[in-house]
Amino acid sequence: MGRFSDYLASQCGNPRGAIGKTMTWAMNRVNGFMYNGIVKNLYLSEDTKILDIGFGNGYLESLIYRKAKCSVYGIDISDDMVKAASEKNKNGIKNGDIHLSVGDCCDLAFENRSFDIVTTMNTIYFWNDTLRGLQEIYRVLNDTGIFYNAVLTKEGLDKMFYTKNGFKKFENHEYAEMGQKVGFQKISFRHLGKYGLLIIYEK
Ligand SMILES: C[S@@+](CC[C@H](N)C(=O)[O-])C[C@H]1O[C@@H](n2cnc3c(N)ncnc32)[C@H](O)[C@@H]1O
Repeated sequence: MGRFSDYLASQCGNPRGAIGKTMTWAMNRVNGFMYNGIVKNLYLSEDTKILDIGFGNGYLESLIYRKAKCSVYGIDISDDMVKAASEKNKNGIKNGDIHLSVGDCCDLAFENRSFDIVTTMNTIYFWNDTLRGLQEIYRVLNDTGIFYNAVLTKEGLDKMFYTKNGFKKFENHEYAEMGQKVGFQKISFRHLGKYGLLIIYEK
């Protein structure tokens, strides 16, 4: 069980090949309440410029673009996910609105203050250096920018058999403390179902 659960955890943190595709497909189904929770909270217009970190198969990008034909950027460490997400979002890419590439949130290849909104969902557990990732997000947000971080609570993650290794699990207060440390002025929480949490960081 140990090796199997570690393999699943590694696929969550860096989905690859057919198994990675299947797992991200399953995430789209199981985590519907989280995608909807983020999208419902976003104030978007066609002028909005948004960055999503760790997009997996690009399902969130497709929902965002359905809500508003805005500029959507995304980065993910997995080559295979860039391919899968590009296929799912081919119309937005063809229109010149969606831009997906390989990248690591701890070293964002964007200018300071490039985005109105940054989102991420179920990725912060896997960043090599959590504070560095948050600093980078703070840096690329404009002065009124907002970061939406959708996570499963520590209690929720602890209920899943494959999260023992490979997942960094944070208590709610740690999410707030890390955000304050990198400079966010206002941090608020919205519950998404029983075990989901949307943490909203404002500059
Ligand atoms: C559990 S999946 C979630 C995918 C997507 N956000 C969703 O909810 O459908 C985690 C994703 O984060 C990506 N990821 C992990 N660490 C990352 C990092 N440091 N920078 C960017 N993406 C990362 C993985 O490659 C994977 O696609």
